[in-house]
Amino acid sequence: MWRALTIISKINKNSPIGFFDSGVGGLTVYSEFRNLLPAESCLYFGDTKNMPYGEKTKDQLIEFSQKAFNFFEKQNVKAVVMACNTTSATVYDVLKNNYQFKLYPIIQSVTEIIAMLPYKTIGVFATPATVNSKAYSKGINSINPNINVIEIACPSWVKIVENNLEETLWALDEIKLKLEEMLSYNPECIILGCTHYPYLVPQLKRFVSSKLFINPASAFADYIRRDLMRLNLLSDLQVEGSEKFYVSSSPEKFVKSAEMFYKLSNRPYLL
Ligand code: DGL
Repeated sequence: MWRALTIISKINKNSPIGFFDSGVGGLTVYSEFRNLLPAESCLYFGDTKNMPYGEKTKDQLIEFSQKAFNFFEKQNVKAVVMACNTTSATVYDVLKNNYQFKLYPIIQSVTEIIAMLPYKTIGVFATPATVNSKAYSKGINSINPNINVIEIACPSWVKIVENNLEETLWALDEIKLKLEEMLSYNPECIILGCTHYPYLVPQLKRFVSSKLFINPASAFADYIRRDLMRLNLLSDLQVEGSEKFYVSSSPEKFVKSAEMFYKLSNRPYLL
């Protein structure tokens, strides 16, 4: 009890917010968030050593998430943004009550908005672990059972992004193959259900209009803004909040792959 009180007292509206992903993917969320709430101080952790998360077991994902959350807890964060669909789908329910800070999982935060879309068939591209969990279809159908949700796993896409292979013939073939499979179901929109996939929109739009794709990042950032406001936890700093980046391996590679979504203001620390 005493420990809990000590921790609570260290957290206030100007405490930092943690962002967690397996690599550069979470920056697609972070860049939206930063634009929306520049006064927030942020810590971003990309677990580059253990990615791709989409091919890991639930036990491994729990272990990786616990390590990240323990790090964030030591930094006295007020909230952690699970900017990773895979851990939101598999780990959030297991760990959601274990920490003092507020946890924001991407899938659970945006499914309500997706379920309100005026569509009958919605496609979701995601990692194998997210697709196996059926987190998107279960979440959407629990609100609107009349939507047909087609979930397709794209196991190679995260590696394509993390290794800057977007323009190789192999990558373009992999992207086209999955897109053709999805289009055979005639979806009215396709959710990019992995934070790495918005990096591939320049390639995807060579085959089909980019209007077909929905990146949930801006809806997610706005959900967090509204919830922090409700909890009276929005920063009241009159200056730009600080930002620090952490990775578990290859900081240089992270900086290079990140460029498309976010120009890092400082070099990532190795954790
Ligand atoms: N970017 C994460 C997601 O949104 C995980 C990708 C991976 O490492 O497989 O699911």
